[in-house]
Amino acid sequence: MIKKYLETKRLLINEALGHYLPSGKKRPTLLHQAMRYAVFSDGKRLRPILVLIASEICGSKSKRAMPLACAIEMIHAYSLIHDDLPSMDNSDFRRGKQSCHKKFGEATAILAGDALLTLAFEVLAGTNYPIIVEVARAIGEEGMIAGQITDIQEKGKEPDKRTIRYIREHKTGNLITACLKTGGILAKSDPEKIKHLTKFGRWFGLAYQIYDDLKDKELQEKENLAFSRIKTLKKRMEKKASFLGKKGEILKELTDYVFRI
Ligand code: IPE
Ligand code: MG
Repeated sequence: MIKKYLETKRLLINEALGHYLPSGKKRPTLLHQAMRYAVFSDGKRLRPILVLIASEICGSKSKRAMPLACAIEMIHAYSLIHDDLPSMDNSDFRRGKQSCHKKFGEATAILAGDALLTLAFEVLAGTNYPIIVEVARAIGEEGMIAGQITDIQEKGKEPDKRTIRYIREHKTGNLITACLKTGGILAKSDPEKIKHLTKFGRWFGLAYQIYDDLKDKELQEKENLAFSRIKTLKKRMEKKASFLGKKGEILKELTDYVFRI
């Protein structure tokens, strides 16, 4: 059921993204192709799906939230391109393919990231002022980029618990929180509901990065540390979702599906 729901949404999002992105047939062809390459790889589209769910929970139609959802996915794609660069995480692969800089070269990849971020704000300009500010703050120098720089500075060290949490919440959590919050704002929801969605988003975002970090860990370490953290966060999310009425059910299902432990 949830799998089918996610697949339907993923296809709709891909179709909409196709309209926003340049075709790759006009000048500057290479830049446009690099943008498309990074966006149209096998992403789960989790962030835009969260935008659509939040706005649906608040009584709005999916279609209305699609530009916002697409803008956020473009921002996510830009962040992945830059994250994979040799001076950052230095990753040759992304979403099961060569990373953007491996395929197109570093300069083109950097510029494709810049162009995706810029295009995202052009699309966001069609939403409203509070949404634009919310997204900018989530990804800026006190948001996602703050998380990235701290992550880089802590590489090879043993960061304390508070720093680890800071990194997780900033580099990953803030954008995910913004998905739920702005989805609610777009649907002109009441402030109480937006608060619930925001709280849910914080826990989801934190759990998402903890879950992602598990990939690099040995089984024993997984069991000892992160599993119980995720379980606790899952319980909190479940409770929060029940404040969101019948439509909140979908968030429960999604949480169960994403955090399979
Ligand atoms: C990857 O995010 C980076 C993290 C913050 C964990 P996703 O796992 O959501 O990446 P895609 O979009 O599905 O490739
Ligand atoms: Mg990184």
